[in-house]
Amino acid sequence: MRPLTVAIPKGRVTKQLAALFARASIDASCILADDRRLVRDSADGSLRFLLLKPDDVPTYVEFGAADLGVSGRDVLFERRYDLYQPLDLGIGRCRMVVAAPRGAEIPAVPRVATKYAHTAAAHFAKAGVQAEIIYVQGSVELAPLVGLAHLIVDLVETGTTLVENDLEEREVVAEVSSLLVANRAQFKLRRAAIEPLLRALGAAVTLDRGSSES
Ligand code: PRP
Repeated sequence: MRPLTVAIPKGRVTKQLAALFARASIDASCILADDRRLVRDSADGSLRFLLLKPDDVPTYVEFGAADLGVSGRDVLFERRYDLYQPLDLGIGRCRMVVAAPRGAEIPAVPRVATKYAHTAAAHFAKAGVQAEIIYVQGSVELAPLVGLAHLIVDLVETGTTLVENDLEEREVVAEVSSLLVANRAQFKLRRAAIEPLLRALGAAVTLDRGSSES
């Protein structure tokens, strides 16, 4: 039988994900190998991991190129995907916020720089604020420092990037964590392979939650 294919994001979450898989007794150590392979199989050949840019994970799963995926809520908020979302993995925790230069007065119609154009537009619309959204891909914190924007909408994990750029958090847009997502058809077809994986990951997440609360 072909391996169960799991699309995972390269980057900050990879280490946390490998640790979660290890706690669930699932062999995923290949995702930490320091090389450039984009397709990696577990030692027993039952799992195949695709290493992707975080923004691309839901696309691979939605189109069935991967059966399962690991995706941040930030990515899932930004575009509509037809995916099953069976489990919050409790990793990749951060929050999406509105931030501004410390103490700055914000005009009635602010310019807002962000990578999350749809999420930010929906947030300001809901608050009744007319905002001009400016799409940027990264280093978003730079925008208000050089007059591109008055505000930013971006992710904050430790808060270091905001502090070091003399910015302050003004509002929380959303709490973010990584979810296990599944292709709807494959979730049914490969249920026998997916269910034990889901159970083991679910137990590892519950264990993590217990240890972080105690
Ligand atoms: C993310 C995010 C912030 C930063 C927040 O960027 O966009 O810039 O991390 O983390 P902190 O609160 O712990 O400082 P990333 O490093 O992923 O790169 P990017 O700017 O290219 O998006």
